[in-house]
Amino acid sequence: MKPKVTVVGAGFVGAGVAQRLLEKVLANVVLVDVIDGLPQGKALDMMESAPIEGFATTIVGTNSYEETKNSDVVVITAGLARKPGMSRDDLQAKNAEIVGGIVKEVASRSPKAILITVTNPLDVMTYLAWKKSGFDHKRVIGMAGVLDSARYRYFLSLELKCNPSEVEAVVLGGHGDLMVPAPEFSTYQGKPVTQLLSKEKIDAINKRTQDGGIEIVNLLKTGSAYYAPSSSAVAMAEAILTDSGRVLPCCVYLKGEYGIQDTYCGVPVSLAREGVKKVVELKLSPESQAALKRSAEHVREQIAKLNL
Ligand code: 2OP
Repeated sequence: MKPKVTVVGAGFVGAGVAQRLLEKVLANVVLVDVIDGLPQGKALDMMESAPIEGFATTIVGTNSYEETKNSDVVVITAGLARKPGMSRDDLQAKNAEIVGGIVKEVASRSPKAILITVTNPLDVMTYLAWKKSGFDHKRVIGMAGVLDSARYRYFLSLELKCNPSEVEAVVLGGHGDLMVPAPEFSTYQGKPVTQLLSKEKIDAINKRTQDGGIEIVNLLKTGSAYYAPSSSAVAMAEAILTDSGRVLPCCVYLKGEYGIQDTYCGVPVSLAREGVKKVVELKLSPESQAALKRSAEHVREQIAKLNL
């Protein structure tokens, strides 16, 4: 039987996640949104592409959580997106209400699911989802590192004049201005980019990566990115559903790994059917390690404002 994935939020990110899941034939999808007609309309439109694309997976659009029962994975994309001039943290109070409500609905109906959060501010929303679900932290994972690393890989590939997929890269830390691109673990043809590009070039690419989200917001003006975010969430869902153990940077609960305690933060992890199989600890440069601690501290301060 095909796995079942619920996608909450039928906006651009949610619809993108649903479309990619269907076209990769990974799961049957339930697309939920509060707006009457929106998930139903998008689901019907996607099903009408099935004869052309040739997928045998299915999607149902709904305003109710009843259809989400016994999902294997739930991807939470609902919430407000940034507009120009806003930081991700500016979304916290409103999105905490939205995500808190959703988690209650989905966790009771799919008690064995893996939750993937996408809503911003990402690290805080993932912590909130963990607390509200009552799930083991290994089953509540945030999407950000895959996206930030993909941006880093793309920007590095422009400088290295190669295909983006030829570059491997790691971005750690919270999904915010303090995220930590780690050039010492970012490679092209096995060589760290620190041996291939000047420090000035790497610093500029690191900064562009940290500002990757706002660069898109400023171009779109009415919302934030969705093509790369939906790809990223589906890469995580795929690793989970196929039990692959693939190592991807994700926002996970840390209990001392990287010297960080009791907060959610982005680090490389192996993903499998149980959720987080293992946190992969890299021996970071002292600079990256210090930056990671600062980023985690910022997440912790933001989590404290939730007053959970
Ligand atoms: C981004 O970085 C939406 O936070 C997301 O584009």
